[in-house]
Amino acid sequence: MTHESLAKAAIEAKSYSYSPYSNFQVGAALLAKSGKVYTGCNIESAAYSPTNCAERTALFKAVSVGERDFVAIAISGSMIGQEPDYCFPCGVCRQTLKEFAQDSLEIVIAKSATAYKVFLLGELLPHSFGAGDIK
Ligand code: THU
Repeated sequence: MTHESLAKAAIEAKSYSYSPYSNFQVGAALLAKSGKVYTGCNIESAAYSPTNCAERTALFKAVSVGERDFVAIAISGSMIGQEPDYCFPCGVCRQTLKEFAQDSLEIVIAKSATAYKVFLLGELLPHSFGAGDIK
């Protein structure tokens, strides 16, 4: 699976975004070591705080069917009616990804299927706290 095809899957997942309050649509595509791709979109709530980000939707779908090892995640986000810019994962999603991924998890930040930047989780969540710290 190339970064480009993972970016494409994230952009497609964005079309399912339920975001009537922010009008900011996000899609994510998470590649598991098994080779399967799990997609997700952001899902908002009238009560605001129950909102779930696209990245966590994808991760929770995957973990809930037994996946625990991940290689890469692509993310694409934009305001309805505006040109997409690079959309980075929020702090909560970075921490949640860390629970199930190594610092080497690739994070593909996609403006389009061909315009993307790749970071590692360790770069976006440096000096992190995780399961290893409470053993
Ligand atoms: N959002 C995501 O889905 N992922 C991110 O990494 C950033 C923010 C969503 C949450 C909310 O529905 C909307 O974008 C605006 O914050």
